[in-house]
Amino acid sequence: MKEKAEALKAEISSYQVSDKEELEQFRLRFISRKSVISDLFAEMKNVAPEDRKEMGMVLNELKNQAQAKFKELIASLEKSESESSAAPVDLTLPPIPDTLGSLHPLAITKKRILEIFERIGFNVSYGPEIEDDWHNFTALNFPENHPAREMQDTFFIEKDPDIALRTHTSSVQVRVMEKEKPPIRTLSPGRVFRNEAISVRAHCIFHQVEGLYVDKNVSFADLKQTMLYFAREFFGKNTKIRLRPSYFPFTEPSAELDISCFICGQKGCKVCKHTGWVEIGGCGMVDPNVLKNCDIDPEEYTGFAFGMGIERITMLKYQINDIRLFTENDIRFLSQFKPVN
Ligand code: DAH
Repeated sequence: MKEKAEALKAEISSYQVSDKEELEQFRLRFISRKSVISDLFAEMKNVAPEDRKEMGMVLNELKNQAQAKFKELIASLEKSESESSAAPVDLTLPPIPDTLGSLHPLAITKKRILEIFERIGFNVSYGPEIEDDWHNFTALNFPENHPAREMQDTFFIEKDPDIALRTHTSSVQVRVMEKEKPPIRTLSPGRVFRNEAISVRAHCIFHQVEGLYVDKNVSFADLKQTMLYFAREFFGKNTKIRLRPSYFPFTEPSAELDISCFICGQKGCKVCKHTGWVEIGGCGMVDPNVLKNCDIDPEEYTGFAFGMGIERITMLKYQINDIRLFTENDIRFLSQFKPVN
């Protein structure tokens, strides 16, 4: 009996299985109630009483060994199954392409505007979005009771009438002129805020870019030529411009800047409302009062300024008909704009 137990011990320790069927064979032979080990236990009654203790130990050890081996075989079978079911790695496959994001259309427009003006010597300047009355209005020659100062247009901060969210990027003009002396050629892009109802055409948060050129002998002809240069670079080389007399407190004379409609080639369409012209911003010669407010002598220096809405010219350029699309973050809209380096 002892020899039988030894033989089984050896058999168990070298036992290998390669599938569930073989595992079941092992279970039937060594673990089940009718196993060879159970048979040996049944034979205990024939063992001489003085040998029983020792045989009992041998058989218990055998039983434990069989159970431990059974667990081990289950584990190794599971491991090999999970390895073989994983897809084999094919090193010849092309890599999964990176899904590149695209620049936001407003970022594309801003980048292009800056590039166009950088080529003619304009640098870039920034100012705060939370502004004081001086930089947003007073220094820009807004009369005391100008409607733009009233609550309907401006977001004031915590009921302090002196602090507001800037309503235009013209405030940066003042900051630059206070800090630097002419010659000044600068472009100031940024967010602006107006207390307006959101609709297809208007938003309470939008972007502008402001331009400022101050030096000796800067004339209206320089302004006109610069606007023409920009319009051709941005909208196409056949673009024409038109300056319509207008009013802004900070420029004198002031003008509204129109470009020839590049969509219909001035034949008349919905975008230009059949006039052949579309407005893209305001401009003019810096009012002498504004120069004075910034400690620049208007007898020595003159300048021009202009301001454009980035949403507006992006909508024109890409024929986008709802300003709210810019802030909705709909990937179906945004992914139509190709990445630009
Ligand atoms: N600040 C004006 C606005 O928000 C735009 C503007 C008009 C800016 C004429 C200028 C300018 O610099 O000369 O409507």
